[in-house]
Amino acid sequence: MKIAVIGAGYVGLVQAAGLAQLGHEVIAYDIHQRRIATLKKGLSPIYEPGLEECIKRGIEGKRLFFTDRLEEAVFFAPVLFLTVGTPAKSTGEADLSAVFAVAHQIALLAEEEKMLIIKSTVPVGTGDKVEKMMREISPSFPFHVVSNPEFLRQGSALHDFLLPDRIVIGLDDGGLAPLLQEIYKGIPAPILWMDRRSAEMVKYAANVFLATKISFINMMAELCESLSADVEMVSLGMGSDRRIGPHFLKAGIGFGGSCFPKDAFALMHMAREAGVPVPMVEAMMETNDRIPDRIVHRLLSLLPIKARRITLLGLTFKPGTDDLRDSPSLKVISHLAKYPYTLRAYDPLVKEGTPHPALHSVALTSTIQEAIEGTEAILLLTEWPEFKEADWIRLRRLVSHPLFIDGRNCLDEEKMKKAGFQYIRIGKKPTLFLKTEGDPRESTDGKRGVPASRK
Ligand code: UDX
Repeated sequence: MKIAVIGAGYVGLVQAAGLAQLGHEVIAYDIHQRRIATLKKGLSPIYEPGLEECIKRGIEGKRLFFTDRLEEAVFFAPVLFLTVGTPAKSTGEADLSAVFAVAHQIALLAEEEKMLIIKSTVPVGTGDKVEKMMREISPSFPFHVVSNPEFLRQGSALHDFLLPDRIVIGLDDGGLAPLLQEIYKGIPAPILWMDRRSAEMVKYAANVFLATKISFINMMAELCESLSADVEMVSLGMGSDRRIGPHFLKAGIGFGGSCFPKDAFALMHMAREAGVPVPMVEAMMETNDRIPDRIVHRLLSLLPIKARRITLLGLTFKPGTDDLRDSPSLKVISHLAKYPYTLRAYDPLVKEGTPHPALHSVALTSTIQEAIEGTEAILLLTEWPEFKEADWIRLRRLVSHPLFIDGRNCLDEEKMKKAGFQYIRIGKKPTLFLKTEGDPRESTDGKRGVPASRK
């Protein structure tokens, strides 16, 4: 089937490349000419595992095309996916200007019946408004607007496209169903048919619920720290109940990224407009916002008095992506920047010279070694495999003081303690670390820093 994808950003590119892989003939449009020029060369402008190869395969197989001319995309196909951005305004409300601008243009350009499938995350009722607008602009052609929210995780977006748990489709005209079935024919997942407004709501409900699970376990982590329980055991005990499930119960530095915070704010805005209180969502966001501050306080309370250097390991909001949007690490940096410490950071995908206003107070390094050399505290913020695989016994020799806070609970506690680190996990009351005399760099045999239970 011929399909056009309008907006070659993160979601659009995965959608276009994925649909081409399913055998459809796809054209992806974007307003940014440079982006389209890059894509035409088979290069992906964003980092996403497997995406560039998938784009190349699509181009070589003559199933994937790119254009910066909207009319070309509109004339190409009777079915158009709308994948433009809906960023948050300062009020939290989703900015729909790109959605309406593009839909307006499509209605003006179209010379035949079109189906517009909205993949962008939009507030409930947007599909109704877009369809009404398009039909008013061009009454001679029937326009059908469908909601088909995406649930792609950065770092595994192609996998999520090809093997989703479900496909949610919201339409108010059942006659469109066969065409949509045809689009997703190659995907082994159930299609959940519903009305358009409910489909729009599913996206917000799913993301806010997942974020709530994370905030819940992070709240439990704080409680566990003061009541000497271990949140990982609590998470295991809770998550083994099939009604609860083990996913998204990993305590840590909190969630970030381009979706959870934005969608929670948009939901709160929608609820305000509807006059419906949503105190759970507010509390969930407050809990998440408090964590970086709490961890920085913990770090500062454990630092030796004369300490001057702090190292951050990992900056992206999660591994497998170079995305820093709403990353908790940026909040940690802005808290730490108030103090007179020298901050060094290493992230496998955030290179020296990365232009970001929040990073000017940090010296970025190109290796773990460089980042921790002579440091007096390490704070791990992203669970990159490189950190899990590192030889911490050897690395321990490089630090001046062995304080190590694992903000993602991702390293092996026994090994870290054996290496001689004062190793602290989230949601677990630390055992007391008794310092022995001399330069801590001299010893790597685990004899220094003998932990003794506080109780
Ligand atoms: C999310 C949704 O999962 C996806 O369905 C939606 O379409 C877009 O938003 P993404 O933002 O890529 O995807 O990341 P995800 O893997 O969901 O993680 C979000 C954040 O939660 C990350 O910062 C991650 O570190 C954090 N997280 C996740 C936890 O802190 N604990 C967990 O147990 C799980």
